[in-house]
Amino acid sequence: MARKIVITSGKGGVGKTTVCCNLAVQLARRGYRVIVCDLDFGLNNADVVLGVENRALYDVLDAVEGRCRAKQALVSHPRYPTLYVLSSNRVLERYISPQAIRLILDTLSPQFDFILIDSPAGIEDGFHRAASCAEEALLVTTPHISALRDADRVAGILKSYQFSSVGLIVNQVRRERRRGGMLAPDEIASALRLPLTGVVAEDDKLFRENIVSRSRAFRALAETCIDTVVTRKKRG
Ligand SMILES: Nc1ncnc2c1ncn2[C@@H]1O[C@H](COP(=O)(O)OP(=O)(O)OP(=O)(O)O)[C@@H](O)[C@H]1O
Ligand SMILES: [Mg+2]
Repeated sequence: MARKIVITSGKGGVGKTTVCCNLAVQLARRGYRVIVCDLDFGLNNADVVLGVENRALYDVLDAVEGRCRAKQALVSHPRYPTLYVLSSNRVLERYISPQAIRLILDTLSPQFDFILIDSPAGIEDGFHRAASCAEEALLVTTPHISALRDADRVAGILKSYQFSSVGLIVNQVRRERRRGGMLAPDEIASALRLPLTGVVAEDDKLFRENIVSRSRAFRALAETCIDTVVTRKKRG
């Protein structure tokens, strides 16, 4: 059965989709079978970040509404054979129940190791839908004060979900001398009372290219975050 992990945040634009896609690539490179499930129905850009936006015939809504089987909605990645994307289209005006999505993910789960769920920012319906499809959560924040305040709020809400684990990823961390007044990742983790799963440096290359796997910052994430994620599995 796949471990279902929701990637969430309080503030928008802190790097959920980037972390989700890069984590998926790093796991796939290690041979794990991974689905990136895009439940950010408003912005739905996981397929673009992974470069498969022209390959999808169906999306998650087609599977939910029975126009295709769950497996047919998966888009395989041309470069990583064990990586798949369950994309979504802009469907803001439609209500889609968490139960319907859970059913799709449960159908796919036996053939995969990880289902990483990209969540919309904030604490509205979309966040709750994504959270209620997962058993574990990773909260992404940047070290900026505005992001931390929102992350604190979400961390509180995540507690009510009784996830088997909740970890923190601090993204866009600057080198010591450029940090200014910002807190260090371990200070952020203790302020939010969450274990520090991973730290990702600010990487100018990402700003320019929005790409996966070539970024040095995310190769470094493989060494920390993935090892924590995988070890947890072995222990549990
Ligand atoms: N470590 C990093 N270094 C540099 N740029 C980054 C880093 N992480 C993310 N970015 C950039 O920040 C922008 C926002 O990232 P991303 O779309 O992943 O955020 P998000 O939390 O998913 O946003 P939204 O809330 O809108 O879904 C993107 O342009 C991305 O390339
Ligand atoms: Mg996003």
